[in-house]
Amino acid sequence: MSTLWAFLLLLSLISSTLLLPVVTRLNERPIIGILAQEVTDDVFLPFGKTYIAASYVHFLESAGCRVAPIQFPGMTSCRGLNLSEDKYVKLFKSINGILFPGGAVDLLTSDFARTAGIFFKLATESTSDGKDFPIWGTCMGFQVLTALAAGKNLLERMSAVNISLPLNLVNDVSSSRMFQNASPELLNILQHENVTANFHHYGITPKSFLENKNLSSFYRILSTNFDRDGVEFVSSIEARNFPIYGVQWHPEVNRFQWNKGEAYPHSVDAIRVSEYMADFFVNEARKSFHSFNSEKEEEQSLIYNYVPKYTANISGYEQAYFF
Ligand SMILES: *[C@@H]1O[C@H](CO)[C@@H](O)[C@H](O)[C@H]1NC(C)=O
Ligand SMILES: *[C@@H]1O[C@H](CO)[C@@H](O)[C@H](O)[C@H]1NC(C)=O
Ligand SMILES: *[C@@H]1O[C@H](CO)[C@@H](O)[C@H](O)[C@H]1NC(C)=O
Ligand SMILES: *[C@@H]1O[C@H](CO)[C@@H](O)[C@H](O)[C@H]1NC(C)=O
Ligand SMILES: *[C@@H]1O[C@H](CO)[C@@H](O)[C@H](O)[C@H]1NC(C)=O
Repeated sequence: MSTLWAFLLLLSLISSTLLLPVVTRLNERPIIGILAQEVTDDVFLPFGKTYIAASYVHFLESAGCRVAPIQFPGMTSCRGLNLSEDKYVKLFKSINGILFPGGAVDLLTSDFARTAGIFFKLATESTSDGKDFPIWGTCMGFQVLTALAAGKNLLERMSAVNISLPLNLVNDVSSSRMFQNASPELLNILQHENVTANFHHYGITPKSFLENKNLSSFYRILSTNFDRDGVEFVSSIEARNFPIYGVQWHPEVNRFQWNKGEAYPHSVDAIRVSEYMADFFVNEARKSFHSFNSEKEEEQSLIYNYVPKYTANISGYEQAYFF
């Protein structure tokens, strides 16, 4: 009996000194920023200068977080000026992650790309300091993530608009962070069913990806695909040493975009894929403990302060927020 007692005591000592610190404390009230982008499409011009499609908001919210729209503080009124980064730093320290959505602005010179670059720099510095700050890029957001690491735009013209595909996952994908929690069943779905929607005129080939040392040392390729002409493109990546993730495809459309003229996958399995990706990224954001200075500041930053416009009759998005 006394040996058992000693054993239990030892066990509790080990667990309190060794095991407990390993259990990661998580933020149960994460707030994730979504970067707005310049309106370039004529049909959106009457509504505002920048926008965020509501499907990205729903995508994140569905996994249990709140969303803060990230506009271009101080930039929209004075384009081209080199403004202080203070406003971004303050915002960065308030949110727990950021999503760069798809769209159509310049990868290097747009306000979207420049703001993405500021958050990219702050995120990598913070993570190097031991404070994880995750970034997710979808489609154009993915492309911006590659340009930021490469130091240049490596995109090539491709034919991959309106096509849903299975992913060609790399062999050791289960060692990736992005897919390590995917069940064998989900991996099978991802590899064999048309569950990833592609809407891009440009892409990056595995060849130019691997040849650019800036890029290939920073990110690891998790999947590739072939476009309509048989040209291979990189479709999913994750940074080797940072919680930075990018997909050339659109996990949000499976659940939140419904235009019948677009190849949005809505099968039961496609819904599961979308859920998995949202859960994955929002869980990454739970590792960040940034917070707003006050409850009032937090409230005012949230997307709930804005009313989306109905846009299903003029675009592929059901709704969009304009700023
Ligand atoms: C903006 O100004 C800061 C401080 O003066 C400087 O360090 C930075 O290189 C400038 N950035 C650009 C893009 O000109
Ligand atoms: C790597 O990035 C640096 C800094 O952005 C850039 O000057 C250099 O040209 C890049 N190298 C390659 C191979 O693209
Ligand atoms: C998946 O999409 C491809 C390309 O559009 C098509 O050829 C194929 O039949 C689709 N597969 C299924 C199972 O729907
Ligand atoms: C997009 O793909 C869907 C499904 O394959 C098809 O019904 C639709 O006509 C396509 N739209 C365009 C504009 O090609
Ligand atoms: C789209 O729908 C909105 C809201 O119902 C309506 O006000 C607008 O006139 C419509 N636009 C077009 C081009 O049909």
